[in-house]
Amino acid sequence: MAKNIIIYYSRKGENYWNGAIRNISKGNTEIVAEFIQKAVGGDLFQIETVKKYAEDYYACIDEAKKELNEQARPQLKKYIDSIADYDNIFICGPCWWGTFPMAIFTQLERLDFTGKNVFAVMTHEGSGLGSCEQDLRKICKGAVLGKGLAVHGADASNSENKVSVWAENLV
Ligand SMILES: Cc1cc2nc3c(=O)[nH]c(=O)nc-3n(C[C@H](O)[C@H](O)[C@H](O)COP(=O)(O)O)c2cc1C
Repeated sequence: MAKNIIIYYSRKGENYWNGAIRNISKGNTEIVAEFIQKAVGGDLFQIETVKKYAEDYYACIDEAKKELNEQARPQLKKYIDSIADYDNIFICGPCWWGTFPMAIFTQLERLDFTGKNVFAVMTHEGSGLGSCEQDLRKICKGAVLGKGLAVHGADASNSENKVSVWAENLV
């Protein structure tokens, strides 16, 4: 049976939510990542940065913009060293300025994607998948990129059906 890993980054705290700022105790992407696991099984791996991003939404926006401009690779608390045991790699994250947070790339650049199936999942407030699939194509060399999924962040907790139908059709 094919083995799945769901790698995700998600941020709690203040976020933009249907046009207003709201404090969330569980990140939108984390909710979606758990739905994927529930639907198709597999291991969950949460990417966590050593330096926490600001809880304040606007401060975080500035931090993220700076990291994007610098193509920063923030240090992580722990890393996966190998995905050799897995066939399907789900890469899930919020849209930050049109792509994944740089911390996701810190992790991905350490892995050998040759022959792996990769699926992008992005939660967002309007940008859809942004440029994340193009960016994954550059970083996950040798992978086969399957159909990605965009989930409106504010609807994450109501997205179980959409997420499971999508995931079950892939694996
Ligand atoms: C730093 C930052 C940048 C963001 N940039 C975008 C963006 O460019 N496009 C968009 O649609 N949403 C953007 N958002 C909204 C998030 O993508 C959205 O709220 C997402 O669901 C948050 O996921 P999380 O709770 O898992 O971190 C941004 C949010 C933050 C905090």
